[in-house]
Amino acid sequence: MHRTTNGPQVLRAYGTRCAGTTADRTACALLPVPPPPSPERPIVSARFPTLLCLAFVFGIGHPHSRSAPALDNGLARTPPMGWNSWNHFHCNVSAQLIRETADAMVASGMRDAGYQYVVIDDCWQVARDRAGRLVADSARFPGGIKPLADYVHSKGLKFGIYTDAGRRTCQGRPGTYGSEEIDARTFAEWGVDYVKEDWCNSEGLDAPTQYAKFRDALAKAGRPIVFSICEWGSNRPWDWGPRTGNLWRTTGDISDRWASMISILDLSSQYALAARPGAWNDPDMLEVGNGGMTDDEYRAHLSLWAVMAAPLMAGNDVRTMPAVTRDMLTNKEVIAVDQDSMGVQGMLVQEPAPDLQVWSKPLADGSRAVVLFNRSGLQTVIAATWRAIGLTGSAGVRDLWAHTDLGAFTGRFSATVPAHGVVMVRITPVKGD
Ligand code: GLA
Repeated sequence: MHRTTNGPQVLRAYGTRCAGTTADRTACALLPVPPPPSPERPIVSARFPTLLCLAFVFGIGHPHSRSAPALDNGLARTPPMGWNSWNHFHCNVSAQLIRETADAMVASGMRDAGYQYVVIDDCWQVARDRAGRLVADSARFPGGIKPLADYVHSKGLKFGIYTDAGRRTCQGRPGTYGSEEIDARTFAEWGVDYVKEDWCNSEGLDAPTQYAKFRDALAKAGRPIVFSICEWGSNRPWDWGPRTGNLWRTTGDISDRWASMISILDLSSQYALAARPGAWNDPDMLEVGNGGMTDDEYRAHLSLWAVMAAPLMAGNDVRTMPAVTRDMLTNKEVIAVDQDSMGVQGMLVQEPAPDLQVWSKPLADGSRAVVLFNRSGLQTVIAATWRAIGLTGSAGVRDLWAHTDLGAFTGRFSATVPAHGVVMVRITPVKGD
């Protein structure tokens, strides 16, 4: 059976309504099914509350008990964290940049906060040699990639690289099509720990087939390598991604603008049920610190990515970032939500008024991470009800940005939320209540 994917949802806390009693399930099933989206009728967040309910009713409701098994390479048991060159530097990559970035990740505390993979995106490669092996730009990467990977490893970090499943990368560099085995072997020899494989110049190719080829080549190469599928959600990767890669992009590229960030949020959140340990929806890399959004907007971006259990790949210049950006990216309480061991992708559970939303992610200790999200241009109060987030009784509320305990609440929690901003809390039921 196909997993439901069309139509965002207001889902009541993973089943208090949809997967609870028979009556609940029936009520859920009786809700009308929305029509499929079309370009004229774009998907708008939270307008259609039903499809995921139906998914629950038909037995695929438990977050980890769904159809295809996840890729069994033992990696990315929590969403991968690291840094990627693309969002800030585009083609302007070099060994020096990567070394300085690795140094800065250590000095800034990012490594210790969990950011592990230092990934060079497009433009590092210029040709193939006579043996068919990819060759790095020798002006920008003197000595090639291996010594760079060694340097990154010497800093206690991991090293990632980029290729493309088609004939050429998006920037016209040699692609992996037809060279899957040799590229996987080359990357393994260089000490690569993470590969992002893009989908440009792939006309006429079948995405599940091509990505499975590279998955198998990586497995044969004999080095644990996280496999990041980047085909922009164009071939329903949430259906085959879990058995093929550790993460898959769900949308086109993010840009450093509020509208881009929220449109990606709305699209990516539709596939929440596909995510699980080892297999994650990837709503694209972070723009935090790149300058196109306000600090409140960046805090919202990071909070929502964490509640969605998204990979957290920083995309700014970490060598020169101001303290406010560093403190945002290294907020351990927000990162802990993203990295929670249960590995459930949070969802939109309440929309008390247009543009005012409550997102909730169940955590391994029985608590909920809750994001009160104000998409409007005016500061306002937003309330989360226990019913919507699946709690009862009294619960302790902690503000994850203010790092403050706010006390015990029963039935609901409300807070004043800045325009284009969030309040993010962790709500923990009081024991014995
Ligand atoms: C595509 C990807 C981006 C980036 C560029 C590089 O657009 O989606 O993330 O890798 O290619 O050319």
